[in-house]
Amino acid sequence: MPVPVILLPSDPLTPRRPDPHFVWEARLVRELGGEYVLLDHDALLAGDAVAAVRQVPEAYGPFWYRGWMVPVPAYAGLAAALTARGCTLLTSPAAYADAHELPGWYPVFEGATPPSAWIPGGEPDLAALLEAARRLGGRGPAVVKDYVKSRKHEWDEACYVPELADLPALSRVVSRFVALQGEFLAGGVVLRRYEEFTKDADGRTVEARIWWVDGEPVLVGPHPDHPQATVDPDLSEVRPLVRALGCRFITTDLARRADGPGWRVIEVGDGQVSGLPHGIDAAPLLSSLLAA
Ligand SMILES: Nc1ncnc2c1ncn2[C@@H]1O[C@H](COP(=O)(O)OP(=O)(O)O)[C@@H](O)[C@H]1O
Ligand SMILES: [Mg+2]
Repeated sequence: MPVPVILLPSDPLTPRRPDPHFVWEARLVRELGGEYVLLDHDALLAGDAVAAVRQVPEAYGPFWYRGWMVPVPAYAGLAAALTARGCTLLTSPAAYADAHELPGWYPVFEGATPPSAWIPGGEPDLAALLEAARRLGGRGPAVVKDYVKSRKHEWDEACYVPELADLPALSRVVSRFVALQGEFLAGGVVLRRYEEFTKDADGRTVEARIWWVDGEPVLVGPHPDHPQATVDPDLSEVRPLVRALGCRFITTDLARRADGPGWRVIEVGDGQVSGLPHGIDAAPLLSSLLAA
């Protein structure tokens, strides 16, 4: 089996170098005896996947991508452009969609993650919102996001819904969320029941990010938003779910319940586009990828 190669975004200003944000990962790949190849992320997002992979040698790889998030259609474009060069991605477009977008992973993680309902498309009408709220029990607090991201930094305005039964207030938060996401709205609108998680002294949810390669937790650390936190999550409930999802490289963000025992899955992500917390030793992750 050929050794996997890591595909990293190039520096938009100096295309022969890795993007400054990923330079340390590039260095680590080399230190571990691995190889990386560069990809033009801007060209990929602009819809020119062929130009995006121009630096990739023919019949090379197989590849793991490590970089900025890309929408599912752009990832499919990347896969096709690589195939045309005789190369393969180790995560297929279908597997990428399953891990990256909530409707892909939710059916497997249902029960271990806050109950969720989604409405495909852009801004939903009132009837669709009412129906989605009804599927969550029709009352109580909730959070709003799209298939991939929330606007957690605009919590009161575009994320948190104090009471689902207050349809005008729900509609206001969803409208604001859709407007702020603009062209970056991914897939559709998701409503999730709000749950109480353990918070730190600054009132922020303490989240652990677990990196899974072929069903094994190869790196456990804090969420990149609070890289100083120490976390020691119990993985017994989530491990079989990760295996059931069947994606080779994913992350799970876990938070401890404030109102009962155990850890809840806040979200699942494709490991290729999940952020690493600043200062973590990523060697166990990258060596697992190079050995996979
Ligand atoms: N169902 C929920 N109940 C309570 N808090 C939540 C819930 N979902 C998300 N949050 C809070 O909002 C933050 C952002 O949500 P998340 O789903 O991780 O979106 P993003 O993709 O933007 O990180 C989480 O880190 C958590 O603190
Ligand atoms: Mg998150």
